[in-house]
Amino acid sequence: MSKDTFDPTKYNNSNNEPFAAVMERELSRRSVLRAGMGMAAVGMLSTVGLTGCNSTDSVVETPKTKLGFDSIAGAKLDAVAVPKGYSAQVLAPWGTPLNDLAREWQADGSNTALDQANSLGMHHDGMHYFPLNGSSTDGLLCINHEYIDQSALHPAGPTKDGNSLRTILDEVRKEINAHGVTVVRIKQTNGIWDVVKNDSHNRRFTGATTMDISGPVADQTLLETPFSPNGDKVRGTLNNCGNGYTPWGTYLTCEENWPGYFVNTGTQTADQSRIGIDDKNTRYGWDDLAGNAAEINDEFKRFDITVKGSSAADDYRNEANGHGYIVEIDPYDNQSSAIKRTALGRFRHEGCVFGQVVEGKPIVFYSGHDSRFEYIYKFVSDVNWHAGDASRDDRLAVGAKYMDQGTLYVARFDDNGVGVWLPLTMTAVTKDQGVLADHFTNQASIILNTAGAADLVGATPMDRPEWAAVDPVNGAVYMTLTNNTKRTTETNPANPRLNNSTGHIIRWQEGDNAELFSWDIFVFGAAEDAAPDVNISGLAELNQFASPDGLAFDARGIMWMQTDNGAPELTEYTNDQMLAVVPSQLTTDNGELDTINSGNQTELKRFFVGPNGAEVTGLAFSPAQTDLFLNVQHPANWPYSSDATMDTPSNKTVRPRAATVIIRKNDGGEVGV
Ligand code: FEO
Ligand code: CA
Ligand code: CA
Repeated sequence: MSKDTFDPTKYNNSNNEPFAAVMERELSRRSVLRAGMGMAAVGMLSTVGLTGCNSTDSVVETPKTKLGFDSIAGAKLDAVAVPKGYSAQVLAPWGTPLNDLAREWQADGSNTALDQANSLGMHHDGMHYFPLNGSSTDGLLCINHEYIDQSALHPAGPTKDGNSLRTILDEVRKEINAHGVTVVRIKQTNGIWDVVKNDSHNRRFTGATTMDISGPVADQTLLETPFSPNGDKVRGTLNNCGNGYTPWGTYLTCEENWPGYFVNTGTQTADQSRIGIDDKNTRYGWDDLAGNAAEINDEFKRFDITVKGSSAADDYRNEANGHGYIVEIDPYDNQSSAIKRTALGRFRHEGCVFGQVVEGKPIVFYSGHDSRFEYIYKFVSDVNWHAGDASRDDRLAVGAKYMDQGTLYVARFDDNGVGVWLPLTMTAVTKDQGVLADHFTNQASIILNTAGAADLVGATPMDRPEWAAVDPVNGAVYMTLTNNTKRTTETNPANPRLNNSTGHIIRWQEGDNAELFSWDIFVFGAAEDAAPDVNISGLAELNQFASPDGLAFDARGIMWMQTDNGAPELTEYTNDQMLAVVPSQLTTDNGELDTINSGNQTELKRFFVGPNGAEVTGLAFSPAQTDLFLNVQHPANWPYSSDATMDTPSNKTVRPRAATVIIRKNDGGEVGV
């Protein structure tokens, strides 16, 4: 962020300028090193130590953020663990009613599709806190709901007939409604956070909500369906994994493993076979009820994208063309539609984060494609940033300005820490010295098959790109590469370990040339007792981790890393976890940014451990940095109490519910320091 970005205090009656904004203003005009010249460190970019309040020095000095907690041990409980002096409250679990149209959540799983459409969805994932009136005790939480656990969603799992086909409409509708995004107002009263039921901001976007679509793919020939003859509307957002937000105050939800929700039993198009549309079944069998007498607007039929009629007016061949995007939502305007921004590419988007924001320079977004051997992308807006756009009320019009026209690039990581951004345009040169126009008819066709275009230009296949995060101190970009046990024969400089079961975090900095960057590997996940060529970063008991996934910086420059691990090297020691580090303060003798190594590994500390069975994901902060929000997804037997740290007794079984957890310091101070 910089001073130019959306300022949550714009609704604030007080004129308190957040400290982070002061720091960012001072740093915003400083440049990063040119590509290939090493990683610029905060030590080179900033001055030291905040001095007395009366200083008239024109240089405001940068604080040294220091982690102020002791790394905690791993844990394997039906409870969360936090450092001494902290509390953890369960908020807004799956099924919490948003309004009076929904019944209270029922522990027997009997809530209906209507209840679900008016309640928190399932499997919370990416998340952001949007303050109201600048408040750290009253705001809107946007929460992604990635997928569902059918056995927990229904009283006794999904109902099927003898041919294993779904038979109950309300069950399927409930599943569709459990997907998507929640916008919910939350408020703190007497130190306890709660959902504000019936607040006018509360709303759900589900797997069935009608949405707008913009950018190159917004074309009738690509999106026409019997439901949308003009091709201007699409239905639903699915498998919303990581998230982002924008400098102008909107939420971004990212469509990740959407291909599995559709089936084409006929001849697949190039983009369908490249992305992995199934040729036999849909993920949860929603299409089983196609043609049912009670079906409304082809609500189930649309998941079967097989060509059946003579034109797009006759079948749902185009339905999946409306999926696989970054979707923009204005949480402050409950009348606004969600908009799918197709210019940012179509793939399994894990997350989406904007790069350092500078007046007069383009806005940049980064997004990874989470699948084995897939790629890292960036989008660069055509227009340059104008600071006044951070405070406009027509936020989705600002989104159109910066997200509908621009250039999409894919990353190639070369030796010696140099990388190249390869444009995905009709004139882009391919590996065989042709151009993409030899393979595609227009930019829309490139976007539809983004990964196929990236293959042709020679992008670097990565070990499952997940979230990205941008250091507010120096603009360095970090991205988690969660793991890749299928890398059995060939490494590359950016993915150097065979059988990479524990993952790593890559880092890059942009140079003056938009098509070059410098990069290194910040940390390798590993068990402490792994061989030295695996535990390259020298991790020890109190910070060993595997499969990094969620990743975010707070405004003070603390990077928070969350895991989604299944590797036995670590599952024997601990459940999934969240760690913290201040990367800008790890510098080499040359003043360049350092990586995690045996000499500084104690700077990487474990802050949180999730309950049994759960993944730790999603991260948001209150502006005051006093409240850290994260999500516990797919727990096995939790939550037992509103106190997230309370272990479910061994003789008790609860219907598991994903939930947000709010972590605060018992003394009310800033979290983490
Ligand atoms: Fe939904 Fe890649 O995690
Ligand atoms: Ca994830
Ligand atoms: Ca993951």
